[in-house]
Amino acid sequence: MNKEEELQQLNRDFSQKIKSPLLGTCKQIVAGTGNAEADIMLIGEAPGKKEDETGEPFVGSAGKFLDQMLETISLKRKDIYITNIVKCRPPNNRDPLPEEKEEFWPWLMAQIKLIKPKLVVTLGRHSLSSFVADPIMSRVHGTILRKNIPELGRVRIYALYHPAAALYNGGMRETLIKDFKKIPKILALIEKGEI
Ligand code: URA
Repeated sequence: MNKEEELQQLNRDFSQKIKSPLLGTCKQIVAGTGNAEADIMLIGEAPGKKEDETGEPFVGSAGKFLDQMLETISLKRKDIYITNIVKCRPPNNRDPLPEEKEEFWPWLMAQIKLIKPKLVVTLGRHSLSSFVADPIMSRVHGTILRKNIPELGRVRIYALYHPAAALYNGGMRETLIKDFKKIPKILALIEKGEI
């Protein structure tokens, strides 16, 4: 099996064994999409209505904004991997509950372990707070956080605002675009072993 096939198998296995009350309300599981060999892994919060309907992460308005930002750094979806902390849509798009994040955590850990991205990019506070306790987004956005995750060892996390939150907030939008454009430089520094 190549890495792509392994990832598909992993997602099939977790889809079958996952236990969460959200399975009773969502239309389908949104496991993640993209490149199993990606250097960059983007992690959002949970699927919304459009994602629930299509089975793909970030296909609604936040996803379109994300695509535009990827284009500014010459990346396409096929170059990265995108998933969410919670892989079923919470009813009425409410915030994921701590226990829901816990239910889906082993699946996310297995995905990161297999893909081995050089950089984990968290989108929004809910995503970041699964890795870092009580983050203050206005302080940590656009910075690299090195975390020791029991399941993974040392991970470099790049904290970004959530594209849905930034979409209609001029200041936050500009900040997110600026932070996003730093990704290639950060990756280059990681590859040179400088960070
Ligand atoms: N917001 C998220 O956090 N994830 C998605 O997949 C879509 C919107």
